[in-house]
Amino acid sequence: MRNFLPPVFLLLSSSILGQNVRAVTVYGLGGVENPTGTFGSGIPAATVSGSDFIAAYNAYNNVTLTPPALPNPMPATSFSIALPNQAANMPKLSIPHKGDFFGFSIEMSVVEQVIGKNASFLQPTFLNLLATVADRAGSVRVRIGGNTQEIATLVASLPENAMIAKDHSVDDNAPTQTPTLDFTDEFLYLFANVSSLVNAKWYLGIPMNDTSHLRLQIAEHADAILGSNVLGYQVGNEPDLYGQHGLGGRPKTYNQTDYFNEFGTMVNGINNDPQIASKNKIVAPSLQGTWTPESLWDIGYLNTYSSSLDVISVEHYPEQNCAAAFPGDGLGPIINPQDVFADYLTHASGQSIVQPYLNSAGIAQQYDKDFMMFETNTASCGGFAGVSDSFGSALWAVDYGLQMAYSNFSGAMLHIGGQNVSYNPFTPPPTNLSLINKWTVGPIMYSTLFLAEALGTTNTSRVVDLAANNGSEFTPGFAIYENDALARVALVNFMTEQNGQGAYNATISIGGSAVGESNAVPAQVRVKYLLAPSVAEKNQVTWANQTFGGRFAADGRLSGNEVIQTISCDQNANTCVVPVPAPGAALVFVSSDAQSSSDPSATQTYATTAVTNPAQNVNIDPTALANSNGRSGGTGPLAGTSKGGANGAGRMSGSLSLGLCSILACLFV
Ligand SMILES: *[C@@H]1O[C@H](CO)[C@@H](O)[C@H](O)[C@H]1NC(C)=O
Ligand SMILES: *[C@@H]1O[C@H](CO)[C@@H](O)[C@H](O)[C@H]1NC(C)=O
Ligand SMILES: *[C@@H]1O[C@H](CO)[C@@H](O)[C@H](O)[C@H]1NC(C)=O
Ligand SMILES: *[C@@H]1O[C@H](CO)[C@@H](O)[C@H](O)[C@H]1NC(C)=O
Ligand SMILES: *[C@@H]1O[C@H](CO)[C@@H](O)[C@H](O)[C@H]1NC(C)=O
Ligand SMILES: *[C@@H]1O[C@H](CO)[C@@H](O)[C@H](O)[C@H]1NC(C)=O
Ligand SMILES: *[C@@H]1O[C@H](CO)[C@@H](O)[C@H](O)[C@H]1NC(C)=O
Ligand SMILES: *[C@@H]1O[C@H](CO)[C@@H](O)[C@H](O)[C@H]1NC(C)=O
Ligand SMILES: *[C@@H]1O[C@H](CO)[C@@H](O)[C@H](O)[C@H]1NC(C)=O
Ligand SMILES: *[C@@H]1O[C@H](CO)[C@@H](O)[C@H](O)[C@H]1NC(C)=O
Ligand SMILES: *[C@@H]1O[C@H](CO)[C@@H](O)[C@H](O)[C@H]1NC(C)=O
Ligand SMILES: *[C@@H]1O[C@H](CO)[C@@H](O)[C@H](O)[C@H]1NC(C)=O
Repeated sequence: MRNFLPPVFLLLSSSILGQNVRAVTVYGLGGVENPTGTFGSGIPAATVSGSDFIAAYNAYNNVTLTPPALPNPMPATSFSIALPNQAANMPKLSIPHKGDFFGFSIEMSVVEQVIGKNASFLQPTFLNLLATVADRAGSVRVRIGGNTQEIATLVASLPENAMIAKDHSVDDNAPTQTPTLDFTDEFLYLFANVSSLVNAKWYLGIPMNDTSHLRLQIAEHADAILGSNVLGYQVGNEPDLYGQHGLGGRPKTYNQTDYFNEFGTMVNGINNDPQIASKNKIVAPSLQGTWTPESLWDIGYLNTYSSSLDVISVEHYPEQNCAAAFPGDGLGPIINPQDVFADYLTHASGQSIVQPYLNSAGIAQQYDKDFMMFETNTASCGGFAGVSDSFGSALWAVDYGLQMAYSNFSGAMLHIGGQNVSYNPFTPPPTNLSLINKWTVGPIMYSTLFLAEALGTTNTSRVVDLAANNGSEFTPGFAIYENDALARVALVNFMTEQNGQGAYNATISIGGSAVGESNAVPAQVRVKYLLAPSVAEKNQVTWANQTFGGRFAADGRLSGNEVIQTISCDQNANTCVVPVPAPGAALVFVSSDAQSSSDPSATQTYATTAVTNPAQNVNIDPTALANSNGRSGGTGPLAGTSKGGANGAGRMSGSLSLGLCSILACLFV
């Protein structure tokens, strides 16, 4: 793992990607909202347009890699998995999980582009995307933060009624000047309005760049505006880089003791602030890996601050692509994405990422805290073109996500970094046009649907890594026990078929004398597949035959007929043979409850009312809805984005669509 962080990153961590600190485009989706600014490598936005503009950004790179050769020796392509039906007979099960395990981490600076200009101008594609997860998981979690949270200040108002103002004044000549990001209450109302339409819950960041002058206003106001829709406040981001980056003027010698003491100042400030109702919703320490978690635990951090903490957080990317993001900065040879592609196409990746955290995940249980991977993705400093936006990244994230669940993480947030990174689950269009149906959904987005369905909505799902196929790193499998019984099995195939080789059959048996139970294989199982022609594929990805569409083709809804395979089992032999294509991932619904919940008509409920966005009073042009969504039907998740989903009054997409249409219409004013 190359996890170095060179001193040249004055104010940035590696996770603000593809932006050159000296040119001060720390601010994510550079150019979209600041067409006159300069970008990372000095391309003035005003001079780029059309296809050049698009080609200038990593989110739209056209690199397609070659799938790795088949492993030699090949793993077995036919193998058995014997599972007890009762959780009590299955060792090593994880803690219980919720379906919203995978959420999204959005850099504070890109909120306008991704979520909405203000509380009246929500991005309907964003709502649709959140709804695809919330419909499956019951809710969806979004973390707003990152390095930009450290320089953010809540202010009473901004010129021209803006919601956010970013200071772009820092340039090559003043590299140490502190950039700022000011925002108003409208920012919080934006999230409140989203939550009124989709069951989204939020984590917000409290800045810790300056413990002499605390800026706790975001928590004061969010408590009042968002109430229980704010799950927690992340205090400080990646403090193990404070010294290296000199954040807030901190010295290079900044160490765990310094942080421990400053964190105490933050906690005292929060505890003494009468306007903050929820004192013990803190998410910390959000270390990114320079310090081990144990180096903080060892100096009494958890003992001292346990009562304030709700979530023990870490942040990590398994790789970095900094030499490419900061060319000319002497960061070593640029990594060829093809050379690292295979590193992601193995079960060993997720296992090695979680390994340094297993001890802490256990400690979190002792303290009765959640343990979360608060920011992660394929590679920091922009990701790898052709890897981070390939189907391989979707399989990687399915396996990594389930590995985290097995390892007793309680959730993970996939990061969205801006227009010039290749790993985004979703990216708004690359122009200042409000092209609501022209988003780009990355393959990794599909992993959030897979995880949501694998874990379901009962909050009881416990996960075990099966070390399937004699522990082959190319054919991992997990079992999910829900309400103490086997509910689902997840099977991944990292290989890409070559010369007819690569696909495998898993013969699943359930119960039986081998595990001291009676035979329990059902007459049939139902299977949903996550598929693409190759691990290198970037556009043609399907989940149960549905797709968000390729580049610039997404409005956030899945299209196509949902196809759930039914596989007949042999109850005499007590076996079900599940084929897994190469590449692909299969989610096998075993129990009758799991099978019925795999039918979307049984889980998705569409409310008809409660569109609380003020935009609803705008005149509705029904053709705008039809055109803007690009697809007919109207029964997709867009129609399901009303309050809480489950509180709705049944599937009546028509009238709800009108409600949301008002928001869509706004984008055309
Ligand atoms: C990828 O984009 C570059 C720059 O726009 C272009 O020169 C090249 O031909 C494209 N490659 C493919 C395979 O489309
Ligand atoms: C929201 O943004 C739009 C577009 O910039 C602007 O016209 C409108 O005044 C803003 N509304 C509020 C309440 O800030
Ligand atoms: C939506 O935002 C507006 C401010 O623009 C606010 O007045 C309203 O209360 C918000 N609605 C909800 C449901 O939070
Ligand atoms: C912390 O950030 C704020 C907002 O950018 C800035 O005004 C303040 O000077 C910073 N404090 C320090 C100590 O750098
Ligand atoms: C941090 O540095 C201070 C001052 O040098 C020292 O007293 C303290 O022991 C250090 N803490 C750790 C955890 O190394
Ligand atoms: C995007 O990042 C690449 C490095 O990966 C850089 O060469 C390019 O100039 C950046 N584009 C813009 C518009 O900042
Ligand atoms: C996860 O937690 C459960 C319950 O405490 C424990 O039995 C299991 O061993 C843990 N898993 C791992 C991988 O540590
Ligand atoms: C997009 O930005 C450019 C450059 O500022 C401007 O000329 C153009 O009118 C804008 N387009 C829209 C639709 O706002
Ligand atoms: C699962 O937990 C959430 C809170 O995180 C709760 O709202 C929901 O009702 C729970 N679901 C069940 C089935 O208990
Ligand atoms: C299982 O893997 C081990 C090495 O990890 C190997 O020694 C053993 O032969 C394998 N067993 C089978 C049945 O393939
Ligand atoms: C899987 O089983 C089917 C049905 O028996 C068979 O046609 C297929 O060849 C098998 N595939 C593999 C990879 O063994
Ligand atoms: C899968 O979806 C496509 C449209 O994307 C459709 O043409 C096809 O019929 C669907 N497959 C099945 C088996 O329904």
